[in-house]
Amino acid sequence: MTKKQLTITQPDDWHLHLRDGDALNSVAPFTARQFARAIIMPNLNPPVTTVVQAVEYLDHILAAVDGTNFEPLMTLYLTDNTPAEEIIAARKSCFIKALKLYPAGATTNSDAGVTNIRHCDAALDEMQKCGLPLLVHGEATGPEVDVFDREKVFIDKTLQPLTQRFPELKIVFEHITTKEAADFVIQSSDNVAATITPQHLLLNRNALFQGGLQPHNYCLPVLKRDTHQHALLEVIRSGHHKFFLGTDSAPHTKHKKESACGCAGIFSAHAAIEIYAMIFEQQNVLDKLEAFASFNGPDFYGLPRNSKTITLIKEDWPIPDEYPLGNESLVPFLAGQTIGWKLAE
Ligand code: DOR
Ligand code: ZN
Repeated sequence: MTKKQLTITQPDDWHLHLRDGDALNSVAPFTARQFARAIIMPNLNPPVTTVVQAVEYLDHILAAVDGTNFEPLMTLYLTDNTPAEEIIAARKSCFIKALKLYPAGATTNSDAGVTNIRHCDAALDEMQKCGLPLLVHGEATGPEVDVFDREKVFIDKTLQPLTQRFPELKIVFEHITTKEAADFVIQSSDNVAATITPQHLLLNRNALFQGGLQPHNYCLPVLKRDTHQHALLEVIRSGHHKFFLGTDSAPHTKHKKESACGCAGIFSAHAAIEIYAMIFEQQNVLDKLEAFASFNGPDFYGLPRNSKTITLIKEDWPIPDEYPLGNESLVPFLAGQTIGWKLAE
């Protein structure tokens, strides 16, 4: 019998870009309608590198979700110069839950990112001591590295050695895209976990070129070949406790995506939990959605699981072609397609 509705513990999004200003006000309500909490990425321009900046950004987010119970879980942007004192201040703040490692040049607003992980030893040492997780954009950036091999090269050159040098450091390997990344996480200690996006489960790199160039399927790390997509699907079918929901929803205006030098990022917050439900249903593991979306994340971060529930109803609805983004518009993930699950309001 096919399920007509599904009630699960309210989920959290463990990897989210909200931006700031008008864009923030446009996108934050989509997340707040379904998720209790979200880990907020700090790659603003300028980046959120200090507790003082994070407090200010937190205020903007809380204003954008006024009237809801949504709790933003803030992060700081790690740089070559992040002092150990900033880590201590972050820990004391209680609302900062992690630091984000962007290798310099890897993605949107990563210019201030880390040029050599060795420059971060003092900060990493303090994080290991006080239990603040490191969230990793796991891509090697050298111009000689093939774009489809960046994740694997990062594991071999940076992540594997890092886990040896800091065995007690909690690490979330964000938005994994390859079999190598999944295997690495499974084989690592319980201090290493990973998030998986909807697009890397649903699509492979063919989706970038189907019927012509598809800029709205372009994100970083870029979609990989189908064997990697299948490895990620295998991970969610297995129900492994180290993998959890992180949309990497990353809004950009339609105009910036459909440009001669289009931005990386897929906006999925409009239908995130519904899209994951569709994927888990297609894989015949709807019963494993709740742990992936609502248990594994808080368990890894050492936070309580949510006590409220949400209900998803089996009902077709069309995803709009566009949503407003400030004064402009964005094209959402799966625009114009029909989706078979709807969150009960
Ligand atoms: O596709 C992406 N977009 N990947 C990232 O790592 C950053 C994000 C963004 O901020 O737009
Ligand atoms: Zn991201």
